[in-house]
Amino acid sequence: MSNAQHWIARKGQPLQGSLTIPGDKSVSHRSVMFAALADGTSHIDGFLEGEDTRATARIFSQLGVRIETPSASQRVVHGVGIDGLQAPSAPLDCGNAGTGMRLLAGLLAGQAFDCTLVGDESLSGRPMRRVTGPLSQMGAKIDTESDGTPPLHVHGGQSLQGIDFASPVASAQVKSAVLLAGLYAQGETSVVEPHPTRDYTERMLSAFGVDIEFSPGKARLRGGQRLRATDIVVPADFSSAAFFLVAASIIPGSELRLKQVGLNPRRTGLLYALRLMGADITEENPAEQGGEPVADLVVRHAPLKGARIPEALVPDMIDEFPALFVAAAAAEGQTVVTGAAELRVKESDRLAAMATGLRALGMQVDETEEGATLHGGVTLGSGTIESHGDHRIAMAFAIAGQISGGEVRINDIANVATSFPDFDGLARSAGFDLA
Ligand code: S3P
Repeated sequence: MSNAQHWIARKGQPLQGSLTIPGDKSVSHRSVMFAALADGTSHIDGFLEGEDTRATARIFSQLGVRIETPSASQRVVHGVGIDGLQAPSAPLDCGNAGTGMRLLAGLLAGQAFDCTLVGDESLSGRPMRRVTGPLSQMGAKIDTESDGTPPLHVHGGQSLQGIDFASPVASAQVKSAVLLAGLYAQGETSVVEPHPTRDYTERMLSAFGVDIEFSPGKARLRGGQRLRATDIVVPADFSSAAFFLVAASIIPGSELRLKQVGLNPRRTGLLYALRLMGADITEENPAEQGGEPVADLVVRHAPLKGARIPEALVPDMIDEFPALFVAAAAAEGQTVVTGAAELRVKESDRLAAMATGLRALGMQVDETEEGATLHGGVTLGSGTIESHGDHRIAMAFAIAGQISGGEVRINDIANVATSFPDFDGLARSAGFDLA
């Protein structure tokens, strides 16, 4: 990643209007993967046109799957069946996407052919043993670098056995990788999690006709099943909406409507946390979209106060901590985050990146191994932020700039396009000063 691109964020206008947030990243990845493995043709609506999800679609084209794009945010996937993928002639580039790489590791472990999964600089530093460990227990052969990072060399032609896997980490990616390998394994595969994580893999496999038992924190399926094509409607991504929930909460005079946002309970921990801090967010026009609860979120500025974030909430808001840290900056008093060590192995070390950035703007942040205490209620000043190529760090500081008394320069912002390509345009249309 180069530093060529940057933003300058300054205090803008109160946020107003009604915004449509792009499709959910987790759901978009899975929709292409499962549609590719299905018998028949699946239509996907609301697909996230982000770099991460487009990388996944490109990979399935390399694996011999025909994917049409009739219009932006639509895909028509001509499934090849569970055993119909073809050997790729080049490495499969997952870009910045941990979800893409980890789920593909599970899915590709059961194929007849060899392949190599590569990623960008950030992904190339992320831990993969959390998936290659259980997959090798199932009989898969996947090589990593000596420190457990990508590239992943997947040796095909192995015969996989089902396992009962008690995951040491609350991770939907790990759970999903094991379940996808389980589709190719003999016997049953089950996963038990230390804390329930997002269940899109389970729900969507079920929508594709797979017989899978699941309840919060547990899932079980039998190998050798086929997937039946189905149509998928992708809800708006709560994690992208999160930046506007925080921004409208902390920018005086704001009132913003975020239309029909996905509200899967395993994703909405930030709503709980913000309300604990005094936020004014209401849910209107509740509906169901593609089997997921959605509603308009109407958020009005409110004075926030610091809070201790319950540890049990951490997996339900794992992607929202950069945004939460900015809410904590605006809140009176201390916000305390514990039990969040996973933040150190995301697209960047998010505890370090947020703590360093907020300190650069004049705030006191006491970082711990697995959390931080944030001393909020000060006016942020000017400063330069390194986003470390992490989309969510860049977007979080774009919000911080809106409550700063000065000018916030945010470096290395190109990866915002991985999850939210038009974030800056949408933010400006709502009132942000972001150049
Ligand atoms: C995701 C799971 C989470 C999350 C990521 C998307 C998924 O990762 O942070 O953005 O789609 O399964 P972990 O499984 O590593 O917690």
